[in-house]
Formats: sequence, structure tokens, C-alpha cells
Amino acid sequence: MSSNKETPIKTIGFVLLVCLVCAALVSISAVQLKPLQTANKLLDQQTKILEAANLLETAGNDIVGVYNKYVEAKMIDLNSGDFIEGDPLAFDERRNSRDSAKSDKPKNDIAGINRRSHDAVVYLVRNDQGSVDTVILPIVGSGLWDLMFGFVGLDADLNTIKSVVYSDHKETPGLGAEVMNPKWKALWPGKKVYGDDNKVAIELVKGGAKPDDIYGVDALSGATLTSKGVTNTLHFWFGEEGYAPFIAKNRGGLK
Ligand SMILES: Cc1cc2nc3c(=O)[nH]c(=O)nc-3n(C[C@H](O)[C@H](O)[C@H](O)COP(=O)(O)O)c2cc1C
Repeated sequence: MSSNKETPIKTIGFVLLVCLVCAALVSISAVQLKPLQTANKLLDQQTKILEAANLLETAGNDIVGVYNKYVEAKMIDLNSGDFIEGDPLAFDERRNSRDSAKSDKPKNDIAGINRRSHDAVVYLVRNDQGSVDTVILPIVGSGLWDLMFGFVGLDADLNTIKSVVYSDHKETPGLGAEVMNPKWKALWPGKKVYGDDNKVAIELVKGGAKPDDIYGVDALSGATLTSKGVTNTLHFWFGEEGYAPFIAKNRGGLK
């Protein structure tokens, strides 16, 4: 009689062995790929920040070198608008927003974020003479499908927009995802955030903004809900529960 006869025990044993080997392979690759994932995430973020600072062409392939030369990330307390101690690299807005000790429910949650981290990272971009000529502020707010994350680049006057760069969203290609379209992004430079009364005035205009409207940018066609999300996100983040205290304190110029 052959000893190679298949038995249920042998079959189950073999299946278990295959499962164990596969699980080990998956865990080993997950652990080994983690540093690479983290590095890629950081590189992606730095690329978006350089784009918001109009430094992407200067950088070419040297994203990290140009980022390190011109950009300084600093932590702020959103309520007071003051700079605070803290490691911007260790800061994780999404994690903080899930932690009730590190975030609060906004009083007026027009951006639909549910909770807002107490702290934020702002990016100061210096020119070759060493003066801050762009300040980049991260933003987050609901689109149609999910939260949309991005950056607004401001001139040193902290009112004139240099750029609006979305980095992460789940909007529909051809509709809400047009926030990534270079033609739409090109509509932003020169627009003003605050009106003469110091209230947030920037908005997306359905049907198209008038050419001389310094507070209006064309809404995304066929994507009214995403467009409303962008307007609400900007109104939240430039309002009192967002960067308004920081902006009020630094209008005189950042060093
Ligand atoms: C499959 C599908 C995907 C859609 N994706 C978006 C979107 O990403 N953003 C958006 O604002 N509207 C999206 N819409 C359309 C909205 O449901 C809504 O009709 C639209 O925002 C109204 O805008 P309008 O008045 O400019 O047509 C989508 C609709 C469908 C059927």
C-alpha cells in the first residue's frame, strides 16, 4: 500500500502551510516596503509644496534639494496663530483630527471636516535673498465624495493667491477631479482672499467669473458640488477657525 495516500489531515496541513508562507511573505514585504512608502509620501508632499510655490520647474529632478534649500516647515497653534515648538515631519493632520485630545469640533463646520486639529504646519518659502515670499497653507474640506486635501500658496502680503494645488481627493474624473486640471489651476494667481472689509471674499462662480473679478474663479463645469466644497473649504480655512489668527499676526511680514 502506498504511504502517499491523500488524507483530509494532510490536505488541511498543506493548505495551512501555504497560508502561513503567504502570510509571512505579505508581512515581510509590508515591513520592508514601509520606509519606501513613507519616503514616497514625503516626496509627493514636497512636490506639491514646490508646485504651490511655483518652484517645480526650478527643481527639475532635484525635488528634495530645492525643497530643503527654499522651504521651511513650521508648526502653528491655529487658535492663537502663534508659532509653536514641534516637529513638522512628525505632524499628521489626519491622525490629529481623529484624536479628541488634539482636535476640536469646529463651531461652524462649513468645510465638513468634523474635527479640526489644534495645530497645523505652514510652509515658509524664501527667495535667494532669504526673505519669505510665499507662504503655503494646507487645506482640507469635503468635496462631493470625500475629503479633498490641498495647499494654498499666498504672497508675502498673506492675501494674494499664488496657487491652489490639490494633492488628494476622490472626485470624479472629468467633473470634480478637474481641480487637478492645469487650466483651472492657472485661474488662481493674483486672486485675493480677503475683501476690503477683511471678510473672506474668494469664491468659485458658477457660469464663470468676470475677468476683472479679483475674488472670483470659474466654478468647475458639471461639478457644482465639488465647486461649493472648494469655496466652503477656503472660507473655513481663511476664517477665524482656520488661519485668520495666524494671518492677522503676520500681515506685517514673515521672517
Ligand atoms: C457618476 C457621477 C459622478 C459625479 N461626480 C461629481 C463630482 O465629482 N463633483 C460634482 O460636483 N458633481 C458630480 N456629479 C454630479 C452631481 O451629482 C450634480 O449633478 C452636479 O454637481 C450638479 O452640478 P451642475 O449643476 O454643474 O450640473 C456626478 C454625477 C454622477 C452621476
